[in-house]
Amino acid sequence: AVERTLSIIKPDATKRNLTGKINAVFEGAGLRIVAQKRIHLTEKQAGAFYAVHKERPFYGSLVASMIAEPVVVQVLQGENAVAKNREVMGATNPADAAEGTVRKLFAESIEANSVHGSDSLENAKNEISFFFAETEILP
Ligand code: CMP
Repeated sequence: AVERTLSIIKPDATKRNLTGKINAVFEGAGLRIVAQKRIHLTEKQAGAFYAVHKERPFYGSLVASMIAEPVVVQVLQGENAVAKNREVMGATNPADAAEGTVRKLFAESIEANSVHGSDSLENAKNEISFFFAETEILP
């Protein structure tokens, strides 16, 4: 089925001017960018977005890394978009990521891993509404 997923191009990637190269990988895989904006997350926003990781030892560092530079938040649409985007991103740790994936191509470390993507359809809906009004999504 046609789905939507929330993608974030993270500070390590925006800082290195990789937005276009990463978008080209998404588009090459058949994902359509139906909404996109460049924003600078506040500490409160980043903390709330990653609230499920609050108890993890890397939470503070993750939040700090996400507010260091602007991010690009985007809605990707396509057939099986949630799973397809996860495939295209590659494993969370770039050391484990498959050839040709965004994280293999561009990520610097498990934390500075260039992109975030929703991990389920239900989370995708919540994460999309965290950043976008329905009127901002233009398929
Ligand atoms: P993301 O897909 O955005 O979801 C949670 C993020 O936490 C993950 O990508 C990484 O950036 C970060 N992360 C996950 N595991 C670790 C870890 N072991 N050490 C540091 N950061 C991590």
